[in-house]
Amino acid sequence: MKILHIDSSISGPESVSRKLSLAAVEKLQAEHPEADVVYRDLGAEPLPHLSLADLSDHQLVDEFLSADAIVLGAPMYNFTVPTNLKAWLDRIAIAGKTFQYAANGPSGLAGGRKVIVASTRGGFYGPESPITSYELQDRYLKTFFGFLGVTDLTFVNAEGLGMGPEQKSRAVQDAMTAVENLAV
Ligand SMILES: Cc1cc2nc3c(=O)[nH]c(=O)nc-3n(C[C@H](O)[C@H](O)[C@H](O)COP(=O)(O)O)c2cc1C
Repeated sequence: MKILHIDSSISGPESVSRKLSLAAVEKLQAEHPEADVVYRDLGAEPLPHLSLADLSDHQLVDEFLSADAIVLGAPMYNFTVPTNLKAWLDRIAIAGKTFQYAANGPSGLAGGRKVIVASTRGGFYGPESPITSYELQDRYLKTFFGFLGVTDLTFVNAEGLGMGPEQKSRAVQDAMTAVENLAV
């Protein structure tokens, strides 16, 4: 088994999405002790914006396709994912590799692998929130991985992290419990 672990927060060791993504990888490793882990820190070592030349360099899409499980640390930045993470997503959406267009429309080619997203944010964007429609982070990642054919997609969420220390510690604790209970 191969696990691809990706972080994208710029907040270093303080980052909640890093803590949750690491816990999810450790949970996978506990269930699959033989697993190999490849780690990419897009916060510390960002990829450049996509260029035309990148579209024919398949190193990152091949790395993604070689993984059985992908764990993403994905904070909300300005209502969506960090540009660090977007630069990686841009490199794994490759026609003929992870999706294709046929006469009856697009279809994903990257099914058969598990994706776990550690999703963090400062505010609240649930259905009862007046700004629920601003939530373009999980919604985008669901659309993106759905387009690639990934059906085994799980979110571990920690919301309201900017709403005071009590709320933050409750949200982190609940998310860590959710990681513990992941079926991997
Ligand atoms: C550049 C930047 C932009 C942010 N934009 C939002 C936002 O639009 N909505 C929100 O709820 N929180 C926002 N936040 C707060 C983060 O989502 C929150 O701090 C979260 O914990 C970040 O994950 P991390 O702890 O893994 O870095 C932003 C934080 C940063 C640094």
